[in-house]
Amino acid sequence: MIQSIILAVMTIAPMGMSAQTEHGFEAIAVERDFAENGFNWFRHALLLAAGNEQQSNAMTIGWGGIGTLWGKTAVTVYVAEKRYTKQFMDNSRYFTIMAFDDRKDEILEYMGTKSGRDGDKAKALDLHTAYTENGTPYYIEAKFVLECRTMYAAPFNPQCFKDDVPQKMYSNFPAGVHTMYIGEVVNAWKK
Ligand SMILES: Cc1cc2nc3c(=O)[nH]c(=O)nc-3n(C[C@H](O)[C@H](O)[C@H](O)COP(=O)(O)O)c2cc1C
Repeated sequence: MIQSIILAVMTIAPMGMSAQTEHGFEAIAVERDFAENGFNWFRHALLLAAGNEQQSNAMTIGWGGIGTLWGKTAVTVYVAEKRYTKQFMDNSRYFTIMAFDDRKDEILEYMGTKSGRDGDKAKALDLHTAYTENGTPYYIEAKFVLECRTMYAAPFNPQCFKDDVPQKMYSNFPAGVHTMYIGEVVNAWKK
């Protein structure tokens, strides 16, 4: 009986087939379907969001990395001490990273120059927040969403800087040292 149910499910949805989700997103497997150049992907700027259905916030990020850690497919992002988003990153198990096509420049500029402390940035941009099954916020206007579960978070330790690149960076950086968040990729959706 169980075998025939498994067989029926496999016939309808073969292993690895992308599932269609709400808002026009299709679930993908990043290890197979992600085609961006990891060296440039963050450089082009993305949105980082965290929080829950009661309260959430997002900001533009230009630093980050994709790869593998502890046997997991992983993403690393860096959030400076004074970002309003930081408290949401610290208080949430999950975060999302989003890429946009439509209104990309407007969204990334606004999210990267205004603070959620001063008002609801998503509302100001007329972005609509939805939530994953884990309750992680994302915007339905995104073209690509990665959901990550935080495995590790720690601020940079200035005593560990090995050359003058980070030293120079933080010698005149009022937003404070960045905290590194390493998350396991648990879901990815694209339109
Ligand atoms: C292109 C771009 C990239 C940015 N990348 C980062 C980043 O990687 N880490 C960071 O802490 N801040 C970054 N910022 C700055 C934050 O997005 C900005 O300070 C934002 O207003 C913080 O919003 P919040 O206070 O609502 O968290 C970036 C800004 C821009 C415009």
